[in-house]
Amino acid sequence: ATEAEEKDLVIIGGGVAGYVAAIKAGQAGLKVACIEKRGALGGTCLNVGCIPSKSLLNNSHLYHTILHDTKNRGIEVGDVKLNLEQMMKAKETSVSGLTKGIEFLFKKNNVEYIRGTGAFADEHTVAVNLIDGGETSVRGKNIIIATGSEATPFPGLSIDEKRVVTSTGAIALKEVPKKMVVIGGGIIGLEMGSVWSRLGAEVTVVEFLGQIGGPGMDAEISKMTQKILQKQGMKFKLNTKVTKGDDSGDTIKISVEAAKGGKEETLDADVVLVAIGRRPYTAGLGVENIGIETDERGRLVIDQEYRTKLPHIRVIGDCTFGPMLAHKAEEEAVAAVEFITKNYGHVNYNAIPSVMYTHPEVAWVGQTEAEVKNSGVKYNVGSFPFSANSRAKTNLDTDGIVKFIADAETDRILGIHIVGPNAGEMIAEGTLALEYGASSEDVARTSHAHPTLA
Ligand code: FAD
Ligand code: NAI
Repeated sequence: ATEAEEKDLVIIGGGVAGYVAAIKAGQAGLKVACIEKRGALGGTCLNVGCIPSKSLLNNSHLYHTILHDTKNRGIEVGDVKLNLEQMMKAKETSVSGLTKGIEFLFKKNNVEYIRGTGAFADEHTVAVNLIDGGETSVRGKNIIIATGSEATPFPGLSIDEKRVVTSTGAIALKEVPKKMVVIGGGIIGLEMGSVWSRLGAEVTVVEFLGQIGGPGMDAEISKMTQKILQKQGMKFKLNTKVTKGDDSGDTIKISVEAAKGGKEETLDADVVLVAIGRRPYTAGLGVENIGIETDERGRLVIDQEYRTKLPHIRVIGDCTFGPMLAHKAEEEAVAAVEFITKNYGHVNYNAIPSVMYTHPEVAWVGQTEAEVKNSGVKYNVGSFPFSANSRAKTNLDTDGIVKFIADAETDRILGIHIVGPNAGEMIAEGTLALEYGASSEDVARTSHAHPTLA
């Protein structure tokens, strides 16, 4: 065999974590290669996650607004039709533009893009099974694992991405289902449930816990969000578990019962979306052969500098600890490369915002009220409804509130939670406030343009 070429840094995975690390390392002058098996850069986020889902959320919201919310605004429209094929094309245009943009950035920053599946041959060598046929291998002084995550399957239901789908199938349905059952009322369930509900499906969300929104959403905000989504037509079955699914007939039968035991009920569905969380993806990587550990949830174990037991191998993004968010992956990519090039790097995990892109959006940063209460800190809560905000009033879009939680003694902000129009943009200010250690008075005394939602 020929000697493998040696790089300063080899990155396995070309998702947000991997491509950001690759570009940063290229800019820092490192000799870097990034291995991606999908055939396109950008990972889950650009190809089948953040970007396509936001395209569908935006356009389905427009459609729904035009269909149901124009008359009272003085706009008469007739003959509104859904062209789902075109809506999907618009989505694909956004996706392909962005993934090609990354290829361009790779070239510009001297990143070698290796199209194939990587696996550890030894501690410094990654063997690559090339997409276009054949094999190669590449040696790294440093290696970053950024292989991301995959949907957690639901036992007993086999995913075909047509009738029983994960988010990947849910962003690509060929027609609007009459009835859709969503298993899991977290972010994916509510975002994709919203899309298909707006386009005409009857959507029922089955959630095991007593609240929707997934981990991290403040209970009061979650309750309010549920009411708003119900008003839009989505149905919810909380504290409910799916016991079995049968997809042998024309309609899929989903059996559910109260989580604490109770009467069974059967729900019919044309499409079932499985959205019960995501799990780290490390299949075929061969980490076990070189002694890298995973925890009980399959996450690659690292220290505070993203190092595995083998200090030249680091891990970032969805396949290790922390929230599975694109901007978290991105921050870690920057920090990990800085650890390699400068010996220091930093991510403030207390100030990573979360946004759910339903309408209205739900956004938060910092701790929930329950978390603050459990920590034993004395705190104050202040909240304000959009129904009393002048811009929301002019926009006839007044559902939601802003909630601040601050330390009762120091007034330092501990958490900000918003459900309301444009919450996802507004939370940037809250994140900045948290990052700078602001008090709630600091924010109150900052001039905000009138009339704005901010
Ligand atoms: P990934 O993006 O999953 O990238 C990993 C890449 O590694 C993949 O492309 C994979 O093909 C490749 N790979 C894996 N193994 C190998 C191997 N052995 N060799 C070569 N390549 C390999 N986050 C947000 O912040 N905002 C959102 O709005 C948002 N929306 C989402 C919507 C959906 C439907 C989903 C599913 C996720 C969403 N997320 C969102 C989460 C976000 O997509 C992830 O947090 C992000 O993609 C994580 O980046 P990553 O680089 O760690 O992993
Ligand atoms: P999630 O963790 O947000 O929600 C899963 C939900 O399913 C939880 O509420 C959980 O209680 C419930 N659940 C689990 N098992 C169940 C069962 N057997 N029956 C019924 N309910 C069950 O996970 P989700 O929605 O799959 O998303 C995965 C990840 O993707 C998110 O954690 C998030 O990090 C990321 N994502 C982020 C988005 C954003 O930032 N806007 C959008 C979409 C995904």
